[in-house]
Amino acid sequence: MEDNLDHIHQQALKDLAALENTDDLQDLSVRYLGRKGILTQFLRNISKLPVAQRPAAGKKANEIKRLLEKAFKVAAEKLESQDQAAEAAIDVSLPGRAVACGALHPITQINQQICDIFSNLGFDIAEGPEVESDYYNFEALNFPKDHPARDMQDTFFITDDIVLRTHTSPNQIRSMEKQSPPVRIIVPGKVYRCDSDLTHTPMFHQVEGLLVDENISFGDLKGILTTFVHQLFDEQTSLRFRPSFFPFTEPSAEVDILCVICRGKGCRVCSHTGWLEILGSGMVHPALYENVGYDADRYTGFAFGMGVDRIAMLKYGIDDIRKFFENDIRFLEQF
Ligand code: DAH
Repeated sequence: MEDNLDHIHQQALKDLAALENTDDLQDLSVRYLGRKGILTQFLRNISKLPVAQRPAAGKKANEIKRLLEKAFKVAAEKLESQDQAAEAAIDVSLPGRAVACGALHPITQINQQICDIFSNLGFDIAEGPEVESDYYNFEALNFPKDHPARDMQDTFFITDDIVLRTHTSPNQIRSMEKQSPPVRIIVPGKVYRCDSDLTHTPMFHQVEGLLVDENISFGDLKGILTTFVHQLFDEQTSLRFRPSFFPFTEPSAEVDILCVICRGKGCRVCSHTGWLEILGSGMVHPALYENVGYDADRYTGFAFGMGVDRIAMLKYGIDDIRKFFENDIRFLEQF
């Protein structure tokens, strides 16, 4: 009988030692100590033993029960701390987390391409302030006082005399003030206008160009801009110069390129004209030379200004300019 109890004890300890998780521990506890468990059964059967054996058997059985209860408690604590360690451990079989890779913003990319092309043509890259005086933004550029571009609707005024620059053209004056001819610069930068829809945002990007020297003609302007368009788009992208008006150039022209979507056949993007306007340009107005102290009889030059956002939209086939500024990673990672 005692052998029998020892056997149960040893077997229970062996089973406990072989346990691997808390669920199995529960089952094992029921098997030995539960209401119908092996030990409990044994205790119940003591009444069937000869009277003389009962006290010793009862004592021993209770003692083993106590030992086993303690052993189960110790095992439970051990298993629990094992579970916690396993949870905290690194699972080397899990797939790794992909590292999202940054990329240059599409506007930055187009900006760099434009700057590269003009750098290779011998232009320097200059910069100017975004908060600009009325003098540089308008007055020195020959804007008459009543010119519609001075209207509150287009211009963000900071004071009567200070504005957020509405274009990069003030840098024509700033660069000519700083140096005498020859001048050959481009000026990329942010500009601001009170306007917002599918094709306009209150802040957008321009690149200004200015070349002043002796004997510069409209033919030079055409040559430079044709080379530029062929390099930025391709050789098949032809140009069209349309007469236009800007206060700071005379004569002035707007430049259209053959529609990059339909190649001239007519589509929604080019409003079925086959052409897309990409920049304004012209020969520098002599009034500007007066304002910066250049000899207007000796020097001539040309200027141009283009919208970078619009060019990026055309190159990448984007129909809503606001996408550039929403910073949606799903949009940005496509470039
Ligand atoms: N500043 C003009 C604008 O923002 C664009 C422009 C037109 C710039 C003709 C020029 C130019 O340099 O010659 O609408």
